[in-house]
Amino acid sequence: MAAAPILAFDVGGSFVKAGRVDATAGRVLGEVVKRPTPADAAPVAVIDLLAAIARELPSDGPVGLAFPAVAKRGVAWTAANVDRRWIGTNAQALLEERLRRPVAFLNDADAAGVAEMTLGAGRGRDGTVMVLTLGTGIGTAIFVDGRLVPNTELGHLEVRGQEAEHRASAKVRVDQGLGWPAWAAAVNEVLAAYHALLWPDVFIIGGGVTENWAHFGPLLESRAEIVRAEFGNDAGLIGAAMAAVAASTPKRG
Ligand code: BGC
Repeated sequence: MAAAPILAFDVGGSFVKAGRVDATAGRVLGEVVKRPTPADAAPVAVIDLLAAIARELPSDGPVGLAFPAVAKRGVAWTAANVDRRWIGTNAQALLEERLRRPVAFLNDADAAGVAEMTLGAGRGRDGTVMVLTLGTGIGTAIFVDGRLVPNTELGHLEVRGQEAEHRASAKVRVDQGLGWPAWAAAVNEVLAAYHALLWPDVFIIGGGVTENWAHFGPLLESRAEIVRAEFGNDAGLIGAAMAAVAASTPKRG
């Protein structure tokens, strides 16, 4: 029997994405709805948009919400690439009230990491795995023997006096018009800083930019293994849906 589709959202600084996800198979069913994040991206405007999209994508059951911030017990604690009014907002409670359904709220990179570890490039991996999402910012998700250490936020780690995500995000490449080799060198510096701190066994490199893996993947270097993420741009949606299912499934034992 096919699993019921799970509604998932991935809110970003530039776009809000939504889709109905088969969380067991790890794929979005049908189209991904993509809308510009409202110019006044205050919590109310974004929740209004999510509620409107939910009407376009009928579904039942729990909902996943991936968000680019520290996410603890439903509350956003930071706002690097979104409106500062999110800080201290209980996003989970706001969306639950609007949709009248349970919501799992988690950091976007952690969501992408959950997708990769469950069904993607990190499947079956033990040791320390670090998943990076290279996009508007740099998201990080760390797994130790398959267990997530949430909210690591290492995109903000300073590397030679500058935040990692201001040095090597996918946006930096575009904004600064960097060629692939120059950008890959910047990413390598960030990988070296992460490696010195955490000695991961493997880096899983994700984000929409991995569509261009042939241009930069072979230029990446680290003492850790480097692999391409399998889920690309939909990783956040898929992982958010998986988190929604996990949160609504009674724990055994
Ligand atoms: C945010 C993180 C997020 C990352 C990727 C950073 O600026 O602080 O929470 O995971 O961007 O979106």
